[in-house]
Amino acid sequence: MAEACTVVGVRGSSETFPPGFGPQTYGESFADVYDRWYHDVTDAAGTARFLAERCVSPSVLELGVGTGRLVAELVGAGLDVVGVDSSLAMMRGPGAGPLRAVADISALPFRVGRRFGGAICAFNTLFNLPTAELQQLVLAETAAVTTGPIVVEALTGAALADADVQSLGISRLTSDSLVLAATVVDHDAQTVTGQHVDITPAGITLRPWHLRWTTPPQLDRMAAEVGLELAERYSDWNGSLYDQFSETHVSVYRH
Ligand SMILES: C[S@@+](CC[C@H](N)C(=O)[O-])C[C@H]1O[C@@H](n2cnc3c(N)ncnc32)[C@H](O)[C@@H]1O
Repeated sequence: MAEACTVVGVRGSSETFPPGFGPQTYGESFADVYDRWYHDVTDAAGTARFLAERCVSPSVLELGVGTGRLVAELVGAGLDVVGVDSSLAMMRGPGAGPLRAVADISALPFRVGRRFGGAICAFNTLFNLPTAELQQLVLAETAAVTTGPIVVEALTGAALADADVQSLGISRLTSDSLVLAATVVDHDAQTVTGQHVDITPAGITLRPWHLRWTTPPQLDRMAAEVGLELAERYSDWNGSLYDQFSETHVSVYRH
């Protein structure tokens, strides 16, 4: 497995995040628990099947590859994966290889010399970019290095429409740990800022995160402005019907 190969700057400067948050916050906060907490958060095998059926060549770019939760399934489906992530801590996960770059997905280091047969931005990763402008840059950068489809999996915002501005709940509870999830929703800015407060006998760990959600129609407009067109949309990786009640979407954009 190759070591992380490229390090480039990140565009999401700290001014575009809430105070104390930045482009690496998510990865650095969750890297040590990510695989334990989220290994089955979405359908990895379904994701791989979906992508393998659509890519125009086996070479696939995963935006925000993280610990490589999806990589083994993608490789198992015959795809040749290059993963990009801003967090070295996440990239140190066991499945992040075989090829990976530490880089900002809104400033891809593959502009020259590489064309992928498809790209995937899974599990709300696009919304880690804190503004619509930066999310659109991700689409533009990805369009510039792909010939095949760009597939985005994200929440629709439907479940957040009626969400309380502030909430506190139990995220996980075992005999020796409790994880509390505190969130603050800004409906106008379309942001959710959260803390997972991880309490164990060893102490308390704060795991902050911040998402800027974009609705599917907003995403379609952003994509159209960078030359991409919506080709397919479902509510999950198994091709389930998408409608206005869907809480997640899987959208396929083509040049
Ligand atoms: C929710 S995780 C998803 C990881 C993996 N795709 C999965 O499905 O398990 C989001 C990932 O995006 C990365 N990320 C966030 N902002 C980024 C940016 N600007 N550039 C590259 N990666 C970023 C985080 O470090 C994290 O690993």
